Amino acid sequence: MRLLASFLLLLAGACSPLGDTPQTAAIVSPILTTEDAKDPFTFAQPEVARVTHVALNLALDFDTQTVAGSATLDILAADDADTVILDSNGLEISGITDEGGAPLAFTVGDAVEGKGSPVTVSIDGTRQITVVYSARNAEALQWLAPQQTAGGKHPYLLSQGQPTLNRTWIPTQDSPGIRQTWEARIIAPEPLTVVMSGLVMGEPVAAGDGKRAFTFKMDKPVAPYLIAIAAGDIVFKELGPRSGVWTEPVMLERAANELTDTEKMIDAAEKLYGPYRWGRYDMIVLPPSFPYGGMENPVMTFLTPTFIAGDKSLTGLVAHELAHSWSGNLVTNANWADSWLNEGTTSYFENRIIEELYGARRANQEAALSFAEMEKTLAEEGVTNPITQLHLPPDLAIPDGGASGIIYDKGAVFLRTVETIVGREKFDAWLESWFDRHAFQPATSAMFLADMRENLVKGDAALEAKLMLDEWVYQPGLPSNAVRPDPAAFAEVDAAAAAYAASGTVDPAAWAKWTAAERQRLLAKLPRELNDQQLAALDRELGLSKTGNNEVLFLWLELALENRYDPAVPAAEKFLSTVGRRKFVAPLFEALMEQGAWGPPIAKRIYAKTRPTYHAVTQGTVDKLVM
Ligand code: BES
Ligand code: ZN
Repeated sequence: MRLLASFLLLLAGACSPLGDTPQTAAIVSPILTTEDAKDPFTFAQPEVARVTHVALNLALDFDTQTVAGSATLDILAADDADTVILDSNGLEISGITDEGGAPLAFTVGDAVEGKGSPVTVSIDGTRQITVVYSARNAEALQWLAPQQTAGGKHPYLLSQGQPTLNRTWIPTQDSPGIRQTWEARIIAPEPLTVVMSGLVMGEPVAAGDGKRAFTFKMDKPVAPYLIAIAAGDIVFKELGPRSGVWTEPVMLERAANELTDTEKMIDAAEKLYGPYRWGRYDMIVLPPSFPYGGMENPVMTFLTPTFIAGDKSLTGLVAHELAHSWSGNLVTNANWADSWLNEGTTSYFENRIIEELYGARRANQEAALSFAEMEKTLAEEGVTNPITQLHLPPDLAIPDGGASGIIYDKGAVFLRTVETIVGREKFDAWLESWFDRHAFQPATSAMFLADMRENLVKGDAALEAKLMLDEWVYQPGLPSNAVRPDPAAFAEVDAAAAAYAASGTVDPAAWAKWTAAERQRLLAKLPRELNDQQLAALDRELGLSKTGNNEVLFLWLELALENRYDPAVPAAEKFLSTVGRRKFVAPLFEALMEQGAWGPPIAKRIYAKTRPTYHAVTQGTVDKLVM
């Protein structure tokens, strides 16, 4: 493939004119071309032809669970490029035209597991193409029946794009290193309101037939997994000058009350690592079927309602998704082998926000919970297992493939360790400058370490030796310099867990005073084998099955099911029938499936009923466990 000098300059981010092509005005982020930056989960060949802007014009049909319309794509291509290759998965493409409306030849290749099908479009001289298509039962999209919403009257739509699901409803180059600006016009039936991960462009307008058109725009280049949509009977409440929350009317007060610290979190995050560059920071609290705790969709974080505990004890989730506005959305892992760059950096940043807002005690407790998660993963997987590397080797680097105890928790411990060795002030200045130098660009582990060496280590051989950077990123297990959590964080609750082994009770008065993190710690530290009497006593004395904290409730249900405790089955069934968050749902089904003759029939009975209420993400994981 012959590449012209002007095209290479554009790849490097220089602003050379591209003749009369339409995309010259847009910001164009560079594409990384090194081997470690290549994404094996896209069919795109961005060095030949790449999408720089997506304009969606789509209608939502709740009856047939279909989005239909068109995507107009601006293409930046080498002068001699014949084709552009897009990603797709299950799309029904009826035609592709050039900017003059003339049909373009295209082929849809065979589907590849986990990747979908390439759409190869002949472009000749054209630099803007329009794909007319529909997507029915797209995996990214969950269409909820009214009964699955809090209000119970209207249907609801939500999307989840990360890591590779957006190609099931948007025909584009679906790779985190190929950043695109986008705009959208979305038609939805009244009275539903549509929100997206972009800024709203004016009031909705009547579109005939009891429908309204909503318009959005994201003028900063983003990784395509960050395009998101939700539609439902939702209302908005302002939280601060640049933040607010969307949710169903009956949820609004509870959601807004839990989120009153949002503006302070944004301020704290900016003070730590530089300006918030996205304009508004709004959130939507979704129905409980949302498959994740949260998703960092730009300007519109998506949240599970299960983080609402009434006491803000689980708002680390909000700090986490907000932190992604820097680590993940501003600087983005170039491919899924380096998702620790997104998630580990964010988990570290999350904890720093928590420290700023709520103090060192809460932050240390949450860091200690995270450290324990890492240790659990290391013990389960084995410290020589390559799955415990931050940078995943090619055979393990499947999207959604890493262990969270590594990508999130070991990743956070790595940065905590560097912070401790170089000192907080220097570390913070460096991390802020990293985000700044790489803003709106993809990054790899190698770039992260190189930048750290150039701007933080600066040739100090003794410091270099102390940091063990390569071991942290490229080796399994835990490097010897790892900074351990403050042992005081859980001194009291660990003593109570140890005493339980002797006395068989936990003091309810102590429990009542504990933080949510301490309660989670206790449940993690209790003996794994308990009999019915012991479980009944714990539940009675600590009120476990009546807790309003879903993290605590989950740990209790898991412990109970692992011990074949029949009285917990109705509560587990109720939980699994309302909540679709994979982190909760999958381990509970797994616990049941591991219980010999007792659990699997219960799991199968419940899953037969609840499966249709889950998002494809959760279905995919639980199918492997139960079916
Ligand atoms: N970006 C993730 C969710 C995600 C990761 C989706 C990988 C698809 C593939 C999000 O920021 C996240 O980490 N959510 C966590 C929250 C938490 C660690 C506080 C979750 O959903 O539990
Ligand atoms: Zn995250």
